[in-house]
Amino acid sequence: MPTAMIIGASRGIGLELARQYAADGWRVHATTRTPTQPGKLGALTGDLVLHELEVCRADHLAALATAVAQEGIDVLIHNAGVSDRGLRRDVVMRINAEAPLVVTQALLPALLRSTPKRLVLMSSQLGARCDHSAS
Ligand SMILES: NC(=O)c1ccc[n+]([C@@H]2O[C@H](COP(=O)([O-])OP(=O)(O)OC[C@H]3O[C@@H](n4cnc5c(N)ncnc54)[C@H](OP(=O)(O)O)[C@@H]3O)[C@@H](O)[C@H]2O)c1
Repeated sequence: MPTAMIIGASRGIGLELARQYAADGWRVHATTRTPTQPGKLGALTGDLVLHELEVCRADHLAALATAVAQEGIDVLIHNAGVSDRGLRRDVVMRINAEAPLVVTQALLPALLRSTPKRLVLMSSQLGARCDHSAS
């Protein structure tokens, strides 16, 4: 059975990805910041495993890597991201630009244990924008 890991699956695009992979018979590791209140993610059917992950928390990331230490991840999708409304710029950069690299690095051993080894990083203009007017 193929396995997907969806980082940031509590709502929006990540939730729908988790739903569709699970409906297609994949094993789905889905991360959320609120596993005790999973909302719609908790109502999905299929082979789903929920993990707590705030992408800026090293302890959460270490626990996630340990949880899949014996598994291969065929498709790793880093979907978690924020808009810049109401958040400090350094926080936005940590979540949108730094976390995808740190999370990928932590889960790389599991990704390399699979055959297809597919990595998907959801991007946005927010993760790429360089605001020259601020300098
Ligand atoms: N929708 C669009 O039109 C669009 C366009 C371009 C790019 N994108 C990108 O596509 C991705 C998903 O977009 P979306 O519209 O589905 O976004 P969304 O509905 O706001 O969902 C964002 C997801 O990321 C999670 N998340 C945010 N910050 C996190 C953190 N610090 N640690 C862990 N999880 C975190 C959220 O969890 P919580 O529920 O806990 O907040 C949620 O599951 C984002 O990376 C976004 O930048 C979207």
